[in-house]
Amino acid sequence: MKKLVLKTTIQVYDDARELSKSDQSLLKLAHKSLKHSYSPYSKFKVSASVLLNNGKKVFGTNQENAAYSVCLCAERTALSNASSRYPKEPIQAIAVTARSLEQVLDRPVSPCGPCRQFICEMENRYKQPIRLILQGETGPIYVLESCKSILPLGFDSSFL
Ligand code: THU
Repeated sequence: MKKLVLKTTIQVYDDARELSKSDQSLLKLAHKSLKHSYSPYSKFKVSASVLLNNGKKVFGTNQENAAYSVCLCAERTALSNASSRYPKEPIQAIAVTARSLEQVLDRPVSPCGPCRQFICEMENRYKQPIRLILQGETGPIYVLESCKSILPLGFDSSFL
């Protein structure tokens, strides 16, 4: 018997000012765009901003629906926005933040399982890792160099 040990490296920043200027401005856009979330049911606003190789930034927010299963996550609206507007442009980074009415989110929010799958598809499609920049409403910032590290043994087109 052999064991495979999987490792995930997370860079932890206590203050946004420690980030590169580019990451700071992407995270700022995510915070600023929270107000566009449509989340009357969960009252949990999520926003994601995406940086493309051509330097353009686009964002997306969660869009909810009375039929709950139809709700769209911020990460997937942001990435769909990016790939619809600039289908040929690889994606460099995605910043994600959230705000809750129930509690002050002082720890990073991280993408749900389906969003991880969606981000990994974009990494494979453009053959480029996507840096994840994660923060709650406040508190530390987690930076990961690829979504693959939080979706070990992921499914991809090589199995089809
Ligand atoms: N949500 C996101 O937008 N991204 C995630 O990765 C997890 C959850 C949204 C979906 C729903 O509108 C609200 O957060 C509460 O689950």
